[in-house]
Amino acid sequence: MTEFTQIGKILSGKYVGRDVSVRGWIYRKRSSGGVQFLVLRDSTGTMQVAIKKENVPEKAYHDADKALIESAVTAKGVVKEDKRAPGGYELQVTKFSVISFSEPFPITEHQSTELLLDLRHLWLRSQKLTNIMKVRQYLVNYLREYFFSQGFWEVAPPIITQAGCEGGSTLFEFKYFDDTAYLSQSAQLYNEVFITALEKIFVLAPSFRAERSRTVKHLAEYWHLEAEEAFYHNEDNMKLQEELVSYACQKLAKNHADLLEFFKVKPETLAKVSPPFKRMRYEDAIDFLVKKEVKKKWGDDFGAEDEEILTTGLEKPMFIYNYPKEGRAFYMKVNPENPKTVLNADMQAPNGHGELVGGSERIWEYDELMKRIKEEKLDVKSYQWYVDLRKYGSVPHSGFGLGIERLLKWVLNLDHIRDAVPFPRTINRVYP
Ligand code: 4AD
Ligand code: MG
Repeated sequence: MTEFTQIGKILSGKYVGRDVSVRGWIYRKRSSGGVQFLVLRDSTGTMQVAIKKENVPEKAYHDADKALIESAVTAKGVVKEDKRAPGGYELQVTKFSVISFSEPFPITEHQSTELLLDLRHLWLRSQKLTNIMKVRQYLVNYLREYFFSQGFWEVAPPIITQAGCEGGSTLFEFKYFDDTAYLSQSAQLYNEVFITALEKIFVLAPSFRAERSRTVKHLAEYWHLEAEEAFYHNEDNMKLQEELVSYACQKLAKNHADLLEFFKVKPETLAKVSPPFKRMRYEDAIDFLVKKEVKKKWGDDFGAEDEEILTTGLEKPMFIYNYPKEGRAFYMKVNPENPKTVLNADMQAPNGHGELVGGSERIWEYDELMKRIKEEKLDVKSYQWYVDLRKYGSVPHSGFGLGIERLLKWVLNLDHIRDAVPFPRTINRVYP
């Protein structure tokens, strides 16, 4: 059986003079004076292969001539250093065959965004999306690595649930046999169960939000990295978050400068992301906006423009904490020093990239939780198991949720969150 060498390895320069086989897809092609110059692409890079008429059988040359862009092919030959070739190396081909001929590829230069989204199944192989998928994997890997280094356990909560976590308006409801159920908005309520066994846990799973908003920051399906920690207070929770995000940013900067540069992100900028992050009380954020002549009063939410004003020019994310209780989720611990507020914090990305993390200390006493559930007019029956936790050895605890696509959007400075996920689901798209 033929052994194939990855293009990325050849581009490292260690294969000059060696006879190797490569396989992949035709990325570009041109011909000149009896030579077919193909640029081949595999998962590791692109390189030029030169197919000279006199060096290969007639059928091979004919096939190379006929094969359109995106045809899948194999080529064997000797690696030569060549300054003119993109990447600096060229394969001088002695054997060439086509695995499958491509039809004319429907994506050419300067396509509309809508067309590229309709053809996402074909566009995913573009350099941009390929590189985003690579950065995403590294990012997720570093986030996980950080949790493991701190003694966290990774857990597996359900996706099908009956207890909404973040309010009814954004639940996807569906028929569950003879009953009704929802797609999970957040694993949090289950995470609070796991900590009674494992103390510090995290989970990476899809979350679903029936968001009616058409913004560059909202998906209907996104990947949610959530943590829950027994005995942590709000301040411990924020520390954990800033260390987690800093660890991943610094690792990316150190190990993947090439990928970052593809997105014109300076590794030095990410390397500077380190604790502590700036912390601003909700009420101070309101004052800050008012001083900038924004019409805001205590109790208002922050819109995209407010977030932009608050975070423009920051070198690293910041926290806004102690929001008004009114409008916050039922499970958030009330701030004993100011009962109109809760012990929560949102981590905001620099330059208006939006909220990266939402977290809080949780109500851990039975009576207080029951009171909030009733105040919010939630169906006590669906939450009974959650409230039960407060009866059997409840402890103070905190947790948070980080949107992977939000983090990736900020780290790579992407215009739109949909490019941070392979198959974006939004209010107007579930295809392909
Ligand atoms: O602030 P959220 O709604 O918080 C929760 O769900 C908590 N129960 C998490 C927890 O404490 N375990 O969502 C958390 C994060 C947001 O900060 C944001 O990064 C991301 O999830 N997120 C979205 N990402 C993409 N599209 C959406 N529609 C998102 N909604 C939230
Ligand atoms: Mg939030």
